[in-house]
Parts: sequence; structure tokens; C-alpha cells
Amino acid sequence: MMLKTADPVLDIRDLSVSVGTDEGEAHILDHASLALMPGSIHGVVGESGCGKSTLLRAILGILPKRGRATSGKILLGSRNLVDLPAETLQSEVRGRAIGFIPQDPFQALNPVFRVGTQLLETMRAPGDKSQARKDQKDLIVSLLKAVQLPDAEHALERYPHQFSGGQRQRLLIAASLASSPGIILADEPTTALDVTTQLQILKLLRGLAAERGLSMLFVTHDFGVVAQLCDTVTVMYAGQTVESGPVARVLKTPLHPYTQMLLACHPERAAELAGIPGAVPSPLRPPPGCRFNPRCPSARAQCRAVPPPRTEPEAGHAVRCVLHAEKAAA
Ligand SMILES: Nc1ncnc2c1ncn2[C@@H]1O[C@H](COP(=O)(O)OP(=O)(O)OP(=O)(O)O)[C@@H](O)[C@H]1O
Ligand SMILES: [Mg+2]
Repeated sequence: MMLKTADPVLDIRDLSVSVGTDEGEAHILDHASLALMPGSIHGVVGESGCGKSTLLRAILGILPKRGRATSGKILLGSRNLVDLPAETLQSEVRGRAIGFIPQDPFQALNPVFRVGTQLLETMRAPGDKSQARKDQKDLIVSLLKAVQLPDAEHALERYPHQFSGGQRQRLLIAASLASSPGIILADEPTTALDVTTQLQILKLLRGLAAERGLSMLFVTHDFGVVAQLCDTVTVMYAGQTVESGPVARVLKTPLHPYTQMLLACHPERAAELAGIPGAVPSPLRPPPGCRFNPRCPSARAQCRAVPPPRTEPEAGHAVRCVLHAEKAAA
């Protein structure tokens, strides 16, 4: 009997995003694809400027003003988020079906308001009934306990500066859980924290995801974090998704020349690209075909001519590279 594999909870297919700028169109994402499977933590890894935040913004429907999807789909169940009206995205998706944990806990909270005021505001109560407010307060306090914030009972009365960076990130994680979302998007939520605190937050996220059956998309520039936290990973380069698969497989047998060079030159902090000659291209003038081709030691004419075809040399481990397409065809 054939076992049916589960469908992804979030399925991004061939998504291209452009943003109008004073210097012309910036082609930030180019046919990016990614499947988030139920109950899994999926890392999105890539160096600064490769389009990780833009990918999350596209999912949440908060692209920059002159930004738009020029091709592709973002499927949440049977719904294509690219086609949803802004009001539906706000009332049903953002902060509802999909929770969001921002990058910088120091900037995400307003210093002049009490934490309780800010967290309750994100819950956007229908009406202002006092019972509803009380229920929300109880819910937030229970979530603050779930994220192991010390003295959770009194936290709502305090101001952001009365919390450490790690505690603030716990507050934001609690806020992202308030609507009981099935999916959490996290944009480098630990980069602003010291290493010890980072480790505690990663452990907390892993525990919460398992307890609550969450599916999580976790953006980072750090392969070390991916190895600690994630089940599966997508590697991005200059707006293209070049490789994806189970973390253990990608680390052990990287398929794309970019992933191979990253892991060979700096396994701990691979996305810093130390040692790879050349620079990441601007999205205003990306090279045609595979965007890594100007820096790739194995590049050939075909790499500049065609968008990289997707092949799956081993089950669940996919790559977009002409070299692998040739091997598959041979
Ligand atoms: N509003 C905008 N207008 C023009 N270009 C933009 C805009 N926002 C982002 N970009 C460009 O798009 C590319 C991807 O940016 P993005 O913020 O998605 O990268 P990132 O992978 O999240 O980087 P980081 O790791 O530094 O957060 C960059 O080249 C950036 O300069
Ligand atoms: Mg970013």
C-alpha cells in the first residue's frame, strides 16, 4: 500500500517579487519555492540581502509600497495568499492563522507604553467588552508562563525597559501565540541576543512547537542555528531558493555549488560567505539564469541561459542547478 505523504501547510511555488525603486525594478525574489510540512521547523538560511525577510513579508501580505508578486503562488491550504484582498489577509491570516516573531526585540516594543497595553492591542478584541478584555488578559498571562517569563502575573504592568533582551523576545513569542496560530514565521528572532540567551530561546521555541503542534518557518543567516533547531532547510542565494531538504542530508551532502562552498569555508557561520570570491549581485541587475553563476567554479554557458531547473537527486532533497539536471538526464 502506498502511504500518502502529508500536504504542506504552506506551499510557496515559483514566487517572484519585484519592488519599484528610483533606480528601476528590484527583482528581489526569483521563482522561490518552499514547502512547510505540518509540525516541522523549516529553516530559511542565506546571507544578508538574499530575500529572507521579503519572503516572510510576501507571506504576511506586507510587501513594501511599490512591491508586488510578479509570478507564483503562496498556498495556505486551498487559498492562494497572493490573490487575497488586503482586508482578508489582515482579518484572517496575519496574526490569526499565521503568527509572526520579529527580529529585534528592542525595536518591536514601544518604550512609552506598558507591555500589557501593547500585547493586548495585538490581540485586537472584537468590541471592548470587559469580560473579553479579562479573558484576553488571562490568556496572555498563561502564555507568558508558557514562555517561562519570570513573574508573569505582574509583567503586563511593566514597561519594556524593565525587561532584558531575552525576556523581551519571550514577550514577543507569547504575543505571536495569542491567536493560537498553526504556523509561526520567525525572522532571525535570536540574532540580537547573546549566545546563552539565544540557546535558551531556541530550546523554548522547539518545546513550544512540539507541544502545540506548530509548523514554523525560521529565518536565519546561521547554519549553526539551523543545525540546532530545524528539521528541514531551504538555502537561498540572491532571491533564488537553490537547495532544500532534511537538515542532516543538506549538511552531510550539500548538492548546490553555493551550499557546498558555504559549508566548506565556514561551517559554523556559513552564510558569511568568507572565502567565496566576488560579491552578491544587486537585485536591480541580477545575472540571468542561475544568480550564482558569476561566482560558481562549475558554471557553464547554459547556467547563464536558463532558469535553474529543479531536480530531486534523493527523496525530499532538491536542488536547482544545471549540473544536477544534466546528471538526472544522463
Ligand atoms: N523596500 C525595498 N526597496 C528596494 N529594495 C529592497 C526593499 N526591501 C528590500 N530590498 C532589497 O531586497 C533584497 C532582499 O532584502 P531582504 O531584507 O529581504 O533580505 P534579507 O535576506 O532579509 O537580509 P538580512 O539578513 O540583512 O535581514 C536586498 O537587496 C534589499 O536591498
Ligand atoms: Mg531580513
